[in-house]
Amino acid sequence: MSNSVGRVSKLMSRFLEELEAPFIGRHEEALVLTLAIMSGEHAILIGEPGTAKSALVRRASDLLNARFFKYLLTRFTEPSELFGPLDIKALREGLYRRVTRGKLPEADIAFLDEIFNANSAVLNSLLSIMQERVLYDGYTEIRVPLWSLIGASNKTPEEPELEALYDRFLYRHYVKPLEADYWDKLLSAAWKIETGESSVGMPIMDMGQLKEVNKAVLNVNLEYVKSRLIKLFLAFQEKGLHVTDRRKGKILKAIAAHAVLNGRSTANESDLIVLKYTVPKDIEDFDKVSIILMEELRTKDRVLRELEEIKSNIEASYKAIERMQSFDPKLIDYYRSLKSTRNRIASLVKDFEDEEILKMADELIERIDDIIQEIMAKLNM
Ligand SMILES: Nc1ncnc2c1ncn2[C@@H]1O[C@H](COP(=O)(O)OP(=O)(O)OP(=O)(O)O)[C@@H](O)[C@H]1O
Ligand SMILES: [Mg+2]
Repeated sequence: MSNSVGRVSKLMSRFLEELEAPFIGRHEEALVLTLAIMSGEHAILIGEPGTAKSALVRRASDLLNARFFKYLLTRFTEPSELFGPLDIKALREGLYRRVTRGKLPEADIAFLDEIFNANSAVLNSLLSIMQERVLYDGYTEIRVPLWSLIGASNKTPEEPELEALYDRFLYRHYVKPLEADYWDKLLSAAWKIETGESSVGMPIMDMGQLKEVNKAVLNVNLEYVKSRLIKLFLAFQEKGLHVTDRRKGKILKAIAAHAVLNGRSTANESDLIVLKYTVPKDIEDFDKVSIILMEELRTKDRVLRELEEIKSNIEASYKAIERMQSFDPKLIDYYRSLKSTRNRIASLVKDFEDEEILKMADELIERIDDIIQEIMAKLNM
């Protein structure tokens, strides 16, 4: 772990921790927002009213010292409300210009509530701001500093003209209402939020620090996960979950951000969990993707458990082999089975770079090779 990644990871872990602290059951939502700002990408929270979407974003904005712009969109929201009113003085001199002070074109982070209310007049400008960080406005073209746009909505969009907008949110998360088991905790937590008891005292970082974080994200080594990622895209595609080409590339940023958050400068299979927050599109996709990932991702624990099992099988075989006479024909069977176990271990850990797993795999392979030597001696080979 390089020093800078360690530092960055500590800072962002603290941000995540502070962000979720006052809420009940909102870890994933806080994680999505944290990954989004780390990667300089846009995120949208979709969920029924009152599930703390706005409260989470408000808290994120208190924790990050940056220029924020927040707005609740309706069907009637006009471009000037988001991008600033026309500069009348300039207009008298024949110049078409907006007064952008305090508006979206000057914001580092924007929060647009009910974003799918955007009408076509604001939609086009939003699309270019999100994609190119440029506001095309009549005759002018303004470069904007926008780092992340966070959207919230009660539903996924149905209108085809909103597809392009929705596709620009790399992170998409479905916020579910809390189950009855949590209602007790919810009451005390919501009370503390209402009374201001859990408000943020001071921001814990600024945009300069966030940009340093982003540098670490863009430096992550992704080589070990690419082939596995492509296989997962295929698995999703087979189940009717299509990922647009834009998103396929951008997902690497989410993987890299997850690696950095966990203190690594090299991505590994555990980082592919971010597919949970980047692949789903329709409401029913969210559960589907989670299930596929749970099945497909061999997590570290699972592989370690599998290696443990292989280890005890090897030792059991060894006990049997030890007792066998020279030239016992069963030795050949053991020989073959150990060879195939050896291959199995190699393919099991192929995509891993976790030290613990690799060390254990090496030890097992060495052990198998020793036993194979003994078998060959008994067979006089
Ligand atoms: N999981 C939770 N933990 C703690 N408090 C919560 C939780 N969910 C909701 N609340 C309380 O409910 C309030 C309302 O949440 P908020 O306004 O953020 O909802 P919302 O999802 O933005 O709703 P809408 O879709 O109507 O805008 C929060 O400020 C908080 O007090
Ligand atoms: Mg809200």
